[in-house]
Amino acid sequence: MQKFVYEYATKVYFGEGAVKEHLAAAISGYGKNVMLAYGGGSVKKNGIYDEIKKILEDSGKKVIDWGGIMSNPTYAKVQEGAQLAKKEHIDFILAVGGGSVIDCCKITAAQAKTDKDLWEMEMNDHKFPTDMIPMGAVVTASGTGAEMNGGAVITNEEKVIKAGMAAAAPRFAILDPAYTASVPRIQVISGAFDTLSHAMEMYFGNSDQDNVSDDVALAIMKNTVVNMKRLIKNIDDMQARGNLMWDSAMAENGILKVGRVTDFQAHQIEHQLGAYTDCNHGQGLAVIHPAYYRCIIKDAPEKFTRFAKEVFDVQTAQEGVEALADFIKECKLPTKMGELKSKIEITPEVLRKVADTCNIIQCGPRALSRDEIYDILLSCM
Ligand code: NZQ
Ligand code: ZN
Repeated sequence: MQKFVYEYATKVYFGEGAVKEHLAAAISGYGKNVMLAYGGGSVKKNGIYDEIKKILEDSGKKVIDWGGIMSNPTYAKVQEGAQLAKKEHIDFILAVGGGSVIDCCKITAAQAKTDKDLWEMEMNDHKFPTDMIPMGAVVTASGTGAEMNGGAVITNEEKVIKAGMAAAAPRFAILDPAYTASVPRIQVISGAFDTLSHAMEMYFGNSDQDNVSDDVALAIMKNTVVNMKRLIKNIDDMQARGNLMWDSAMAENGILKVGRVTDFQAHQIEHQLGAYTDCNHGQGLAVIHPAYYRCIIKDAPEKFTRFAKEVFDVQTAQEGVEALADFIKECKLPTKMGELKSKIEITPEVLRKVADTCNIIQCGPRALSRDEIYDILLSCM
């Protein structure tokens, strides 16, 4: 195990009715002005917005509405939120949504406290914000685990870069599986695949032998696959959705990352693909993962064999990667670039740009060359 410091910042309330039961108390210690942040409108259609607004107002809060946070949130949207938060003297930001809303709020919370350009500060000066408006999250679509960590993934449209930024973790996260009931089937499955991807990305990094995080990562992978299979049969299986909601948080709350090196190369490629195409995150990962693993399978043969046996109940490393590819098909997730919803046509030229601009993980099983990344992407055409 490598050296680490681990502190856990987020209090979690899980279960049906958790918002009604806990939100008022969870937010009571913060100031009066609460920014209620949400996405493209699903929470207005399914009643979640009204329920939360009423709880806040009944608790004596002044609610300042901030909607329209898009999937793959942009740095421009962060600036809009930060200006509003400054103008309204916001005391607390409540993010109600999936990973996109939560991430956008995390960075907004920090940007609202400084006149510096946070992107430049983090990416160029490698300095990270310490002063932030406190925030909390109510999860309405699970998968990213954004509710239990201090990172956020933001798209800088001007620079055509989608990258992770550091911010504060939510003070609390409320996870009610019933709040995800109206999430469209494809998003439920895409989100769950993101969770599977997170556990795989930790596991395929470098770790000491018999490191507990490998064992836990495998357990999360197994549990995620089992519950995704239940959802393939019945998308309204709320017990399976609840199981996946906690898998999602477990996979990205940092506990799997300590004392080891993680991979996350598939994520780096997908984020940059997202910067060019605005594709759905989980779906982009579904396209990239099998191709990436076919490329690195020889660099971690024992790990791939263990993955094959424990997650997919097949014997060899090769069979494990192909079982993953078959599972993606069974989930009816995209398997080719052309199946992704994209704002531009995905051509070899676009993929070359993705390969030339994505982050390269220097450890993982092995650092890839840009040409290898391009070949991986081309094999997904
Ligand atoms: O915008 P609305 O109208 O709310 O619709 C959303 C959106 O279209 C919809 N939705 C959410 N809750 C719903 C619902 N529809 C019906 N009923 C509900 N209850 O779901 C769609 C997708 O939402 P989004 O938040 O974009 O998806 P997801 O949770 O997958 O988040 C994706 C973002 O998170 C980043 C991704 O890169 C991407 O930008 N990630 C964040 C991570 C983190 N901070 O730890 C880790 C991940 O690896 C990931 O990179
Ligand atoms: Zn992810």
